[in-house]
Amino acid sequence: MFESAELHPPDAIFGLTEKFRNDPNENKISLTVGVYKDESGKTPLMQAVADAENMLAQAHASRTYLPIDGMPAYNAHVGKLLLGPVAESVKWKSTQTPGGTGALRVTGELLRTALGIDTIWISNPTWANHPKIFGNAGIQVQQHDYLGEDGVSLDFDAMMKSIADSTRSGQAILLHGACHNPTGVDPTKEQWTELLKLVSEKGLLPVFDFAYQGFGDGLDEDAAAIREFLADGDKEAIICNSFSKNFGLYGERTGGLTVVSTSDDASDAMQSQVKTLIRRMYSNPPTHGAAIVNTVLSDATLRKSWETELDEMRTRIKQLRTAFVDTMKQVAPQRDFSFLNDQRGMFSYSGLSGKYAEALMKEHSVYILGSGRINVAGINDSNRQRLCEAIASVL
Ligand code: LMR
Repeated sequence: MFESAELHPPDAIFGLTEKFRNDPNENKISLTVGVYKDESGKTPLMQAVADAENMLAQAHASRTYLPIDGMPAYNAHVGKLLLGPVAESVKWKSTQTPGGTGALRVTGELLRTALGIDTIWISNPTWANHPKIFGNAGIQVQQHDYLGEDGVSLDFDAMMKSIADSTRSGQAILLHGACHNPTGVDPTKEQWTELLKLVSEKGLLPVFDFAYQGFGDGLDEDAAAIREFLADGDKEAIICNSFSKNFGLYGERTGGLTVVSTSDDASDAMQSQVKTLIRRMYSNPPTHGAAIVNTVLSDATLRKSWETELDEMRTRIKQLRTAFVDTMKQVAPQRDFSFLNDQRGMFSYSGLSGKYAEALMKEHSVYILGSGRINVAGINDSNRQRLCEAIASVL
């Protein structure tokens, strides 16, 4: 029977991680998967996370099942971290999910089964997994314009026109809360206000994918557009968040799905449907990552340590951008990479797609995505010169 199964191609992101691992070149450079790396090229365990783990180890807590929608104390932290002061005035319920991807998948099912939504609009380009997650959940995925002809900056008017002309009331739209993946290109504050006004006027349900809170301008700053939109209490939205990046808890699959409703009845009904879906999909979420996040966010000292380390990570990525742009200026003065300084978060659309990405991999053991996305956090003082020279040589 198994002979009839088709062989699928490797994943566009994790497939390259595998190729990188098997590359014998000692000077290989990976700027593929969205994982923060420090100056030594390692993904650090954040100090607050290590401290929380020690506290949890001492406590020897039971590993019995969590409730279907996860740890209540964790869920309370999730909503407050996302919504800030707005959490006091709007009706929200957060559910612990296995990573941001788990939240997106449950959302896909929720849109279709609870709300009868058949279509979600997503920017073109978007994270390669978005269309697959929603497609697998039975939702049709349509893409609206996003970048300008330069391929590295936002064409706001084109995006607005494409949403205004093509979407219809009762559909959903997925918006990257901050640090757009894969481009690093975000709307400005004013553009967010206009965009979300249009989303409301068109009768679209906004689904925010918020996987990089804290990597743009700060924890509160990155949530500002979502909070402003929801502040009146008369809007509905779904927020899918992840602690993979801002807590460095990648492998612990720690995320959340937050539903913001306009009445208590709607809020209860939506939560009941979320729980029904989860019970059928994976029963209940894993314990460890949520226990860490809950411990850190419940303890003033740990929380301060976490926020400080996250600030340092964000600042370092900004410095890496500037250093990369400056080095490129030296080795390839004919090509301007200064747009990287305007992009935010871990990723940048470098403009080095297709044949450039292929040549970088084959000739220099430099791994970037075929779309030209680079993980800026994979650059460091030891690999930057070699990286920039490799780019210059393939241009
Ligand atoms: C990425 O975009 O590289 C990350 O979000 C990891 C993933 O799951 O693709």
